[in-house]
Amino acid sequence: YVLGVDLGTSAVKVLLVNERGEVCKQVTKSYPLYQDKPGYSEQDPEDWLNQTIEAISEVTSEASDPEAIDGISFSGQMHGLVLLDQEQRVLRPAILWNDTRTTNECREIEQTLGKETLLAIAKNPALEGFTLPKLLWVKKYEPDVFARANVFMLPKDYVRFRLTGKIHSEYSDAAGTLLFDVAKKEWSKDICSCFELPISLCPPVVPSSGEVGELLPEIAAKTGLKKDVRVFAGGADNACGAIGAGILKDGATLCSIGTSGVVLSYEQAADQDFAGKVHYFNHGEATAYYTMGVTLAAGYSLSWFKETFAPEEPFENIVKEIEKSPPGANGLLFTPYIVGERTPHADATIRGSFIGVHAGHKRHDFTRAVIEGITFSLNESIEIFRKNGKDISTVVSIGGGAKSPAWLQLQADIFQAKVIKQSSEQGPGLGAAMLAAYGLGWYDSLADCAEAWVKEQESYEPNAEKGKAYEELFTLYRHVYEQTYELNH
Ligand code: XUL
Repeated sequence: YVLGVDLGTSAVKVLLVNERGEVCKQVTKSYPLYQDKPGYSEQDPEDWLNQTIEAISEVTSEASDPEAIDGISFSGQMHGLVLLDQEQRVLRPAILWNDTRTTNECREIEQTLGKETLLAIAKNPALEGFTLPKLLWVKKYEPDVFARANVFMLPKDYVRFRLTGKIHSEYSDAAGTLLFDVAKKEWSKDICSCFELPISLCPPVVPSSGEVGELLPEIAAKTGLKKDVRVFAGGADNACGAIGAGILKDGATLCSIGTSGVVLSYEQAADQDFAGKVHYFNHGEATAYYTMGVTLAAGYSLSWFKETFAPEEPFENIVKEIEKSPPGANGLLFTPYIVGERTPHADATIRGSFIGVHAGHKRHDFTRAVIEGITFSLNESIEIFRKNGKDISTVVSIGGGAKSPAWLQLQADIFQAKVIKQSSEQGPGLGAAMLAAYGLGWYDSLADCAEAWVKEQESYEPNAEKGKAYEELFTLYRHVYEQTYELNH
């Protein structure tokens, strides 16, 4: 067996997976998110650790043979900043990927280093969610904290450090910091020195499947894992989502709808950057990359809508009611910019809209408009890939958006691509387990592991006629950003 630990934004999920790739057990433990001021989003790293230990020990206590768990690896929310002092104590709450307090620091990065240099090295533009702007924010507003900082860590790397006592990061998460030279796979001395950050703040990096030490004896005792379980570094949640969905060859494309939504596509070349319009990160497969667009509030737009307008209604019923409304939601359009937007606008200040509301609209029209709006936003990323010459004819869909046949068909019609749902719904946690399985030598490559573990379950063909109707709506959707820009800035 192997364990895949997925450290998400709302909860940690631990999967016990056997040699055939079957998920034998899964335990989820949640933790709070602190949003004390507008734009702030923080978590207590101690909560991550405690809940991870709880979840693992629940898995091992119910496993028939915990001694047979040979490997463990990790997936985690990207970009979050954890700062440690010289005694390896956490200095302040972690600042998360969806925290948007750093708009000024992003402008400072672009001005001081230059957009082009940043793109050439880090392959990405300066965005509020990334780690470097957070470091600069702490340096400016909490100089005492910064002065005591000895090393920074990413969320799942911090949890793994507390389990093993060893400090590392790995390529796929390092890529989301803006301090990493994505092509060379090393921390960028130039970027660090430009912002007067000692390079010693950056933890040593290894590949995602790299082996990174043993469990501390007290952790083995607490979790019920054997002491010599082999620990592998793991990857960013999106890189692990890609592995878990078998996105391991050129052009293979994934749509993952969780709190945020991403569309990502596998890349071999290190010399791409799509002009910074979409992200370009190191894959969990050490020699590969992926390009990715992000919708900040994907599932989050839908859960906000449900909690606000239909708190009593079960989630499945809400999603199902989109079938009562035709494509175009009877003339209602929604933009999911409720916490700003990443791709393609990179605009933390823009806000969402319902456009075209009339007295005849029912709640199901609003629900449909929300789901269409989320999918249109993801389609903007697909359009950027296509404009850069990528052939996107098939998209694997995972996450909340893959739970409803109606939404899967809607994805096929809006993306105008065949949409595939797979038998395993586990995404990043399964990808983490695959990194452990590959690290243990069960397979010669991650692609071989995916071949054995990841099976297609259902597929949805695009409907050309609906595609035409959606194309027109998509054109209107795209105008909403410009038309509402003034209102929000
Ligand atoms: C990616 C991003 C999010 C987080 C969510 O750039 O910010 O997808 O990784 O966990």
